[in-house]
Amino acid sequence: MERLIITGGARLKGSVTISGAKNAILPILASCLLSDTPLVLEGVPRLDDVVTMQEVLQSLGAKVKWLDDVMEIDPSNITSTEVPASLMRRMRASNLVMGALLGRLGNVRASYPGGCTIGSRPMDLHLKGFGYLGAKVHEHHGFIEMEAAKLTGTEIHLDFPSVGATENIMMAAVLAEGTTTIRNAAREPEIVDLQNFLNRLGAEIRGAGLDIIQINGVSRVGREIAYRVIPDRIETGTFMVAAAITRGEIEIINTIPEHVEPVTAKLREAGIRVWEEDDRIIVKGVDTWNALDIRTLPYPGFPTDMQPQFMVFLSLAQGTSIITENIFENRFQHVGELRRMGAHIRVEGRSAVISGVPNLTGALVEATDLRAGAALVLGGLAAENTTIVEGVEHINRGYEKLDAKLRRLGAQIRRE
Ligand code: UD1
Repeated sequence: MERLIITGGARLKGSVTISGAKNAILPILASCLLSDTPLVLEGVPRLDDVVTMQEVLQSLGAKVKWLDDVMEIDPSNITSTEVPASLMRRMRASNLVMGALLGRLGNVRASYPGGCTIGSRPMDLHLKGFGYLGAKVHEHHGFIEMEAAKLTGTEIHLDFPSVGATENIMMAAVLAEGTTTIRNAAREPEIVDLQNFLNRLGAEIRGAGLDIIQINGVSRVGREIAYRVIPDRIETGTFMVAAAITRGEIEIINTIPEHVEPVTAKLREAGIRVWEEDDRIIVKGVDTWNALDIRTLPYPGFPTDMQPQFMVFLSLAQGTSIITENIFENRFQHVGELRRMGAHIRVEGRSAVISGVPNLTGALVEATDLRAGAALVLGGLAAENTTIVEGVEHINRGYEKLDAKLRRLGAQIRRE
């Protein structure tokens, strides 16, 4: 079992380059199943979740070659429409192949997906959408089976702007007959990236980034393109907090400042100095910072995937902060671990009340999910003495070389 051992106290200084976005590459890889022509993806991050998606594609008959950050995918001969249960369990985003398989081959069989244990995470919105497009959906004994002789474009109003449901329905609609309109669609930048990618392949999608997305069905997609995925805004945000919490100064390269606006705004409100340029952000920490009130919301609101990192940052703020988690009902599992490090946090329903303390102390803590793991690493960087983070497999799912990147900035962190 891997652990990260961190000796806190170093002020991080220097430059860090952000990797391709996990939450963009996963749906883009799934959507490759729609293409009947080989293609190339660039900026592919080495993450365990991407390895899982690669295995999902291969299990369905796609050929995949992955060298450094370039992936060549040949989806021309898809031989199966059944996603192996072991891969569905390993990662929730495996469910993103369902829309593309349904669209291209007209049937799918998969078990319910696993993933981070941050809430119940049902799939009702995805399945309702597939149903509106004309698929027959059967759920039994933990499996989902769908079939459709053909899919027909229609109007779909999402009860909640779910990221995964928006992406899955978009993918299913690409090869449907006629026009599909998704209302109350999620607006995340990763959805815009998926639209841009699919349009390069020959799809006709517009509106991503707004809450109404229109997909004009086409008879086939597939072009020999090379496409570079957008940089990861949550990795960017995590390094921004790393600079702030260690009172350091970090230049973040290969990023899109607009995508982290909600994070930038909150850091500035706390008193942290942030400069933005075209594809670069500089964050300079201060000695003391202000408490904040934060509510997580769908994009462009404050991202739930930055909530744990801000909780540890606010544990060291002056005054009392409140974080309200509106997206996932069980996303406070890091609270108990942060308390071991000396944080004063009280949970009341969906809110956490954080009373700032002057310092955190090193402890043995366990990452229970991906972003909780990032928060514990940030806590370790700021804490006195040594912190040992267990459950590193969660961090490997979504951060490329996190420890190596932090070491280059002067952190004392090693993997054991
Ligand atoms: C995606 C991101 C994840 C991020 C989340 C919210 C990927 C691979 N993952 O996850 O990192 O934390 O968006 O920004 O992109 N819901 C339903 N029914 C459904 C679908 C969702 O009730 O059919 C609920 C969920 O339980 C949750 C909320 O909607 O409470 C948001 O989920 P959703 O936006 O779907 O998140 P994911 O796509 O799973």
